[in-house]
Amino acid sequence: MNSFYITTAIDYVNGSPHLGHAYEKVLTDVIARIRRMMGDKVHFLTGVDEHGQKVQQSARKLGIDPQQYSDEISAEFRAILPKLEVLNDDFIRTTEERHKAVVRRLLQQLFDKGEIYKAEYQGYYSTRQEQFLQNKDRNADGTWPELFGEVTEITESNYFFKLKSYQEWLVQFLTENENFIFPKFRQKQVLEFLKEPLNDLCISRPKERLEWGIPLPFDEDYVTYVWFDALVNYYSAVADKPGIWPADYHVIGKDILVPPHAVYWPIMLHACGLALPKGIIAHGWWSINGDKMSKSTGNFVEPIAFVDQYGVDSLRYFLMREMSVGQDSDFSDTQFLARYNAELANNLGNLVNRTLNMTNRFADGLVPVAGQAGAPELELQALWAKTQPEVTALWAEFQFHTALERTLAFVTATNAYIEKRAPWKLGKSEEAGDKILLQTSLATMAEALRLATGYLLPFMPGAVEKIHGVLGYQPGENWAEELAWGGRLQGNRVAASLVLFPRIQAEKTPVKS
Ligand code: ME8
Ligand code: MG
Repeated sequence: MNSFYITTAIDYVNGSPHLGHAYEKVLTDVIARIRRMMGDKVHFLTGVDEHGQKVQQSARKLGIDPQQYSDEISAEFRAILPKLEVLNDDFIRTTEERHKAVVRRLLQQLFDKGEIYKAEYQGYYSTRQEQFLQNKDRNADGTWPELFGEVTEITESNYFFKLKSYQEWLVQFLTENENFIFPKFRQKQVLEFLKEPLNDLCISRPKERLEWGIPLPFDEDYVTYVWFDALVNYYSAVADKPGIWPADYHVIGKDILVPPHAVYWPIMLHACGLALPKGIIAHGWWSINGDKMSKSTGNFVEPIAFVDQYGVDSLRYFLMREMSVGQDSDFSDTQFLARYNAELANNLGNLVNRTLNMTNRFADGLVPVAGQAGAPELELQALWAKTQPEVTALWAEFQFHTALERTLAFVTATNAYIEKRAPWKLGKSEEAGDKILLQTSLATMAEALRLATGYLLPFMPGAVEKIHGVLGYQPGENWAEELAWGGRLQGNRVAASLVLFPRIQAEKTPVKS
């Protein structure tokens, strides 16, 4: 069995989970589910990033201890996972002993090897990004980009990791592994970034400035820089589980690719003599109704409230259908409603309703045996034969938005097939030929629906399970084998009805803004 290890970024606990966090988990879950369906032994890790200045500041603002604060917010992050039907195998918190011990072990190892040294630093610091800045990071007019928030000037002694000495190695690695980062244009950006000389990485913070971190094993007056701490989670979570490391994919947002994931992390691993992950998937960012997501202006989507109102399947579907992995997207009321009503209620939901209604009305609720296929059946079967390899290939390239479009196009074609055969007319006819045609059309629509669900499964596991339930369908162990056109549902008793996606009136506004 092939083992497949996938991770998400670990979220800062300086605020509640929002749509961007939810998207990343769902995307990772879709990939994990696909790999499980394909027979891999999957290990899926997610978690929270609890140390650092941001968290310490947020806790202080509330006048509570950072540990208590982290406990509360971490619980919120953990709670969204089952709500989103995300099936993670592990959840790591960077305040856990299993994590802290590995961070300290790796730091000591690098220190002993002479890869870490002490020096005085004088310069600029962004708390928001937990990052040291240089003059080259300024805007053309000398101001700091908004991304950095408040920038302060500091002078202090710190410990540095010899990042610079690995620059050539990293360039060579990326040149030889041109598919390391998805999408490809991001890999080019990393190589562009590496054209400038790297600075050594400051990996410590004096305790008088920041207490909330992992103490350095070789100098307890300092805590570990939050990125050196956080990145290690991917390894610390599995360090004592044989056969899992290296990761197959780290799924992250575009903002934390360069430098943390594409520069620090590969170099840290290489310096520690650990294998590198096989790849990094950098997704884009969501805006809400055309504007930047922001807690301060209230422009954000609260994932749990959204799921409670519109259902987890429609949220997962929309996130995966709307965003092309790697590009930015907008989460708008109108676009959500348009897709929900057209694609889920009127297309997929309609096919489910028609299949159940007509099988009950014209065949006593039992899926009939199909007669010989005529032109409309052959046409639909040919579309399936084309759709199947296409969608499988799109999955392999993380083109989930197009994969869903093709899958739903097959559902549209099945609804068109039903119009063409018009079983409601055949049901009124007394002719023997029409009786057989009626049976054929009922069997065909049920089979087409069953097949379509094979490609909806990782996106809408709950909805698909319900559809399988009303069709009396129990898929076999081997997912791929279930995708062959046949008569798998023959003789099954179908349920009376299923309300999956009730139409939403446009007056209701799904997105809080
Ligand atoms: O960066 N759209 O945590 P974080 C899409 N702790 N994704 C978004 C988003 C948006 N509007 N906003 C945030 C951190 N994200 C670090 C990570 S990993 C070792 C440490 C994504 O809570 C963001 O790109 O700020 C990132 O991948 C994840 O949410 C967590 O962001
Ligand atoms: Mg962030």
